[in-house]
Amino acid sequence: MASGMAHEINQPLSAVVNYTQGCIRHLENDGSEKNKKLIEVMEKASVQAKRAGEVIHRLKNFFAKGKLYISPEKSGRLIRESINLIKDEITKADVSIKYKLGKNLPLINVDKIQIQQVILNLVHNAIEAMVETPKDKRKITIKTALTDDGKKITYIFQDTGPGFTDEVADKIFQAFFTTKPKGTGMGLPISRSIIEAHGGKFSILTSKGKADGGVCFTLPVTDKKRR
Ligand SMILES: Nc1ncnc2c1ncn2[C@@H]1O[C@H](COP(=O)(O)OP(=O)(O)OP(=O)(O)O)[C@@H](O)[C@H]1O
Ligand SMILES: [Mg+2]
Repeated sequence: MASGMAHEINQPLSAVVNYTQGCIRHLENDGSEKNKKLIEVMEKASVQAKRAGEVIHRLKNFFAKGKLYISPEKSGRLIRESINLIKDEITKADVSIKYKLGKNLPLINVDKIQIQQVILNLVHNAIEAMVETPKDKRKITIKTALTDDGKKITYIFQDTGPGFTDEVADKIFQAFFTTKPKGTGMGLPISRSIIEAHGGKFSILTSKGKADGGVCFTLPVTDKKRR
């Protein structure tokens, strides 16, 4: 149902985007100075319609997640492969990635595609959090380690951005909560729901009672042999 509904809503939304883009082209061709204001407003309408489309798309993925396709995976390789998918974006944003991956960790039992989605959400958030950070200081540190009971792997993502303010930290798991003009506010709620569906925990890190921009989650290991 989620996917049918998403389709029904996305069709008219795409039409709105196309019509507004058409209007913008007409106004631009006309070349008149007073059209500038109209073009500006039409651009805003188009951006908002696109944003609504993105919200619908993410909601569909959230509800239509369905079955997990679990397979044994290497925890470090999953990280490196995910980062590789967006390496151009990372380079363009002048962000460096530091890996502190545990050695000889057991394999994890995960739906690879869904965990990749979580990793990409977190890296995107970190990149976006560091836009005001000086270029030479933009760094994401990714750590993995086995939990004390040996049953899970902990993943930690930290960035050198400003961290979560207390006010933001209280609201991040509310669907649609965002501080970004083009954000949907679905990234963290979706990530948490994926991790919990795997039997793991998802939380933001705090130090001295303050959230410091780090995010942490756990994933269950298989009982297969260590890598
Ligand atoms: N690494 C981070 N450092 C500081 N604040 C963060 C970080 N990650 C998330 N946030 C805050 O949490 C809010 C919610 O994040 P979430 O990923 O759920 O949505 P979003 O990034 O705003 O939108 P979308 O994921 O759809 O692009 C963000 O708007 C931002 O204020
Ligand atoms: Mg996000």
